[in-house]
Amino acid sequence: MQQLKDYPLENPQILCGLPEGGEIMTTVNDNSTHLSTPRTASGISVRSLWKVFGKNEHRALEEPFRNMSRSEIQQKTGLVAALRDVSFDVNPGETFVVMGLSGSGKSTLVRCLINLIEATAGSIIVNGNDVTNFDSKQLRDFRRSEIAMVFQNFGLLPHKNVLDNAAYGLEIKGMDKEGRYHIAHEMLNKVGLNGWEHANQRELSGGMQQRVGLARALAMDPSILLMDEPFSGLDPLIRRQMRDELADLQAEIQKTVVFITHDLDEAISIGDRIAIMRDGEIIQVGSPKEIITEPVDEFVREFTQGISKTKVIDISECCSTPEVIFNATDDHDLVRSKMDDAMINYAVGLDSDNQYLGLVSRSTLEREASSSMIVSHLSDSNVTPVLPDTSLEHALSLITGHNLPIPVIDENDKFIGVVTHKSLLEVIAGNS
Ligand SMILES: Nc1ncnc2c1ncn2[C@@H]1O[C@H](COP(=O)(O)OP(=O)(O)O)[C@@H](O)[C@H]1O
Ligand SMILES: [Mg+2]
Repeated sequence: MQQLKDYPLENPQILCGLPEGGEIMTTVNDNSTHLSTPRTASGISVRSLWKVFGKNEHRALEEPFRNMSRSEIQQKTGLVAALRDVSFDVNPGETFVVMGLSGSGKSTLVRCLINLIEATAGSIIVNGNDVTNFDSKQLRDFRRSEIAMVFQNFGLLPHKNVLDNAAYGLEIKGMDKEGRYHIAHEMLNKVGLNGWEHANQRELSGGMQQRVGLARALAMDPSILLMDEPFSGLDPLIRRQMRDELADLQAEIQKTVVFITHDLDEAISIGDRIAIMRDGEIIQVGSPKEIITEPVDEFVREFTQGISKTKVIDISECCSTPEVIFNATDDHDLVRSKMDDAMINYAVGLDSDNQYLGLVSRSTLEREASSSMIVSHLSDSNVTPVLPDTSLEHALSLITGHNLPIPVIDENDKFIGVVTHKSLLEVIAGNS
């Protein structure tokens, strides 16, 4: 029976994109990994993917077995159908999370994507090519240039220091010392490990070791990054910190990321979309909001019921038009009298193009009443505008501590509306 290679250390080639038994190349000057022109992200199209473990694995795909559940297939044939007819698309540049309980097939899926495990049937298309048909040379090129993996157990080489671990993939690729150290330094910097280049693995905490693993993967400048429960071995606090850092990093590098987790909280905080797996099948793919608010069945509903909807529902539902709007040339008295008429303690400034100028509270206006400045220069600095996809939960944290509403603007600073305490609490009350 085929064994999962949980310990890539036994197989360092795989860590760095070579097929098993691949030779370390001695060619120099392969400096094709250029930081200045990062590779563009690729999408992945998976169709009818099966992975069956056991002898005569194709039997599981025959009638009547192929339509049976995993446990029935196992009872009748002794075969383990780890992946059953799995189809999905990952868009270039998105963070696609695969989530499911232990044994649902997540690791098998991600290992098939990089061909560490040979699929039994189906196709995996990247850049127009089917990964399942690659010969060993194509596979080596694919792993050297397109795809990299970060493992749960970090997979660092104990006899190498941090810098050499981060540079290892490039070394295997044949890059000269100067080139690979330059890139490794830069990647270690990106993951917050500058100053640790000459440390050994045993001097590093788990979180730091995983940062090295991430730096090593990023050094290869892959267009696709696979991460199999990369933070599962870490303490909860570090784990949350790492996931926030990954989200920041991803906003910068915009790789296609396939991220495996069994933690729903982690899934909804980093995933653009989430695929939920059960017994080798994908049973729902959707945005965090869709997964939480429109579960396809009882299983997904139960799986997600511990998560507050306020994490995934955004503020666009509770945006309203402010009662007092001023423009750049309005003076104090006019704005104050408008506030008096409306019996309201704030006003929103907009220019003729609906561009957001600022929000002014009554107290600021009163304090500055003798100033000759026009009102639009008095914007209350503690009120920061947000985008409409801000979650209710985040909006609540912003609005606590002052009594002014939150202005909502689009990416071009065009004003959309305000979220008041009252409207926010009403929507939260209806969704918690
Ligand atoms: N080499 C193998 N031989 C037999 N069964 C395996 C092998 N690898 C995984 N499996 C089985 O396939 C199923 C999916 O495993 P896995 O992909 O590791 O799940 P997950 O990563 O979601 O925990 C499990 O039932 C597991 O026991
Ligand atoms: Mg797993």
